[in-house]
Order: sequence, then structure tokens, then C-alpha cells
Amino acid sequence: TYDSDDVGRGTGPTPDRRTTKLAVVGAGAVGATVAYAALMRGAARTVALYDIDKAKVEAEAADLGHGIQFMPMAEVVGSNDIAVCADADVVVVTAGAKQKPGQTRLDLAEATIALTRMILPPLVEQAPNAIFVMITNPVDIVTYAALKISGLPRAQLFGSGTVLDSSRLRYLISQHTGVAVQNVHAYMVGEHGDSEFPLWASASIGGVPLPDWRGTRSSGPLTPEIREGIAREVIESAYKIIAGKGATNYAVALAASRIIEAILKDERRVLPVSSLLDDYYGISDICLSVPTVLGRTGAERELEVPMSSDEMAKLHRSAEALKAVARRFGF
Ligand code: 2OP
Repeated sequence: TYDSDDVGRGTGPTPDRRTTKLAVVGAGAVGATVAYAALMRGAARTVALYDIDKAKVEAEAADLGHGIQFMPMAEVVGSNDIAVCADADVVVVTAGAKQKPGQTRLDLAEATIALTRMILPPLVEQAPNAIFVMITNPVDIVTYAALKISGLPRAQLFGSGTVLDSSRLRYLISQHTGVAVQNVHAYMVGEHGDSEFPLWASASIGGVPLPDWRGTRSSGPLTPEIREGIAREVIESAYKIIAGKGATNYAVALAASRIIEAILKDERRVLPVSSLLDDYYGISDICLSVPTVLGRTGAERELEVPMSSDEMAKLHRSAEALKAVARRFGF
């Protein structure tokens, strides 16, 4: 923290002790793992965990703090006092209802919108200049509601969207083709949920446009059936993991950390976050994920990635599905 007594005594240059601060709201499986991933990756110098459960949040912060020696330089604090989020540069919101086996993300809308109404205004008060990243599901609806509730500009508040789903997609393509996931470029777009879909037309593997991919010695081409299977597996991933272990936490936390780093390091990374669209291929006034440039000012602009007519139709269907839900909750 900054102590004004330390400066201006003529002992050398005035130290600028302003360091980056990340606030994570919610110390459940996702929130605690976001804090862990961000610390491990050196995403921010200070990580503040906030939760209404005092014992839980203090225990998570202590457990993380005990590992700081083995991480890039950082400090971690945890509290049930919202002031722990004061002046954060990025606020990541993970608080909300937990998806039970058999539930869809949209089943959680009512509870999470109510919670967002309660916690977002005081968070904005604590960190008015922060970039807000919503993770709580159904993330597209929560992001849309959060923009309406807070009145924040669209660049300053957006959702983690299909960054996670896109990494699932790239992983599965990588498994199938035997090419490193880092060299596979492909996006899942639309709703972070059941109506999402892959953009095959613009995907590429090591510079080879995916539609031209003929396979390697050890793997065949990506036939329409194989692509269909991969897309289905991406959509079903979360359901399978929730059935097996009750929640997803590792990959979502790494995806969140990637988003946080893109913001705090002003990287201009292209990531498919969920932001409020304004005439994106004719879609307006709903939040969904499309490739977006992320930097220090947040969601800077969406890229108009070329799409097949089928992909375009799916994007519009995903937007309509989300609008119907938003309307049901009075937005
Ligand atoms: C996930 O996709 C459940 O939205 C969460 O892992």
C-alpha cells in the first residue's frame, strides 16, 4: 500500500508505488481458482478476494498467501468487507448460484440477476474505474443485466463468454490433428451455453485454413461428422464435468486469468468475450461472444470475422435465444 509519508523527503526519486490490483468477488470453487491462477501467472501484484462468508474467504486468502513464496511476487488479501475491493483495476465477479447436475446455465438467471442487483452497485462504488469481468452464469444474460444495472460503458464491463469454450474447441481440434493447441486458431461464439457454435470457416491450423485441412500422416481430415462431434463435445463439456465433480473451475480460471492479463498488460489480445453488441452483423442490444480486442480500456472492439451463411444464421439464432431470456427478466 501507498504511504504518503514515504515520499518527497529528498532521498531520491519519488517512488511510484501504484501497482496492479485484481479483485475477485466470490471465494467459491471458481473465485478461489481464479485467484490461484492469476497469482501463479503473475497477472496482478495484489489479489483481493471478497465473499460474504468470512471464515471461507479468510481461509482461502490464508491458504493462497502461504504459497506466495513459490509464485511471482504478489500479495493476497481476503475479507468479507467489500472495501477490500477498493480501487481495483479489474474486478472479476464469480458470485452466484451454482449449476446443479441436470440444470442449464439459463436456469440460474433469476437468482444471479437478483444477486447482481445487490452486489454490483457497491462494487462500482469501491472501484469506479475498474474493468468489470462477469463470470457468473448465465454469463451473457448476467453481463447484459449488469450493464443495465450499473450504467457502465460497454467497454468497461463484459463477460468471460466463450473464451473457455474456445479453448475447449482448440484442445479437441489439437487432440484430433496432433498439432499443438497454441497453433490451432478457432472460436466458439454466441451464447456461453447450449446455442454456441464453432466458426469453422475462419479457423486455421498452423496457417492452413481449416476447410483446407487434409490431415497428417497420423490423422485424417476434419470431416463434417468429426466437426459435428467436436462441436457437440464442446457444448457438453461443462455438463460432463459438473456431473463428475460438481463444478468446473481450472480451465475457467485460466481463461479468466488470460482475460485479466490482456487488460492489465494492455495486450490487445483477441479473445471471444461477451460484450454488448451494436450492429455486429446486424445484431444489437444483447451480449454474446465474438472475437474482441482486449486492452487496458477493456473490450475495445469486435472483429467482423468472416462467417459462412450457416454460421451467420446460427449467430442470429443465438442472439434471439438470449434476447428472449433477457425479455423474460424485464430487460
Ligand atoms: C463452464 O462452461 C459451467 O459455464 C461453466 O465450465
